Amino acid sequence: MDIRFDGKTALVTGAASGIGEAIALDLGRAGARVIVADLHEPAAEKVAAQIRAEGGTGIAAGGDVADPQVVEGLVDLARRNGGLHLLVNNAGIGGEGKPTGDYSLDGWHRVIDVNLNAVFYGLRFGIPAMLDAGGGAIVNMASILGSVGYAGSPAYVAAKHAVVGLTKAAAIDYGDKGIRANAVGPAFIDTPLLSHMPKEKIDWLVSRHPVGRLGTAAEVSALVLFLLSEQASFITGSYHLVDGGYTAP
Ligand code: NAI
Repeated sequence: MDIRFDGKTALVTGAASGIGEAIALDLGRAGARVIVADLHEPAAEKVAAQIRAEGGTGIAAGGDVADPQVVEGLVDLARRNGGLHLLVNNAGIGGEGKPTGDYSLDGWHRVIDVNLNAVFYGLRFGIPAMLDAGGGAIVNMASILGSVGYAGSPAYVAAKHAVVGLTKAAAIDYGDKGIRANAVGPAFIDTPLLSHMPKEKIDWLVSRHPVGRLGTAAEVSALVLFLLSEQASFITGSYHLVDGGYTAP
């Protein structure tokens, strides 16, 4: 199956590392103009430069997606570069690891701001731009923790469950207007997000995946590109796991 996005403009948030980086690079290889957005602009520029080195169009942009004005600015950048056709709300953080009764209020607000509110801002500003561009496709990065819980991560689990719901709501609102929206639920993926974890914790996580390993960013990206493509034209409002069997038992 040859997935191509020639002539389309994509905005990927959190695109300087891990899953977002893999998606941005794959979109560039598939012919899309890619806005590589990240909190860390120099790292975003590296990814954008790699897209250009491979013959594609990569445009780096810095900023914190928890700020609605930043997200509005990213969408405007896409409008000035051909219009917004593809949107991947991917930026996310793990947050502190504490049980619900000990979780700091600041920690709660930051995780909700980055992992949930920023996804809403992407939709709030991105959807009008997509309508102006004649339609498009959205993928919101949830997690397996959008459908099951996890010890010591109340804010992350709550935000990811909400991302799944928000995705369904937007898909219903725009299903007959040429915009599809889906959520993706990766299990534990080998990216810098997990780099703070000790080896014993990683080994334990591996044991929770029936395939016997963590996933790769490339495996998540393959699903995201399919959902963004015309091959997925009848798929909207749904939540797609890429989890090595984590949620099967
Ligand atoms: P990562 O830490 O490798 O990359 C995340 C990127 O997002 C970083 O480049 C970071 O600078 C950027 N970012 C963080 N906060 C930001 C903000 N406020 N504004 C703009 N950019 C920001 O993480 P990874 O693993 O690639 O995660 C990407 C997404 O996938 C996240 O939403 C995460 O929750 C989700 N996910 C990751 C899993 C994993 O096991 N790695 C599993 C399930 C979901």
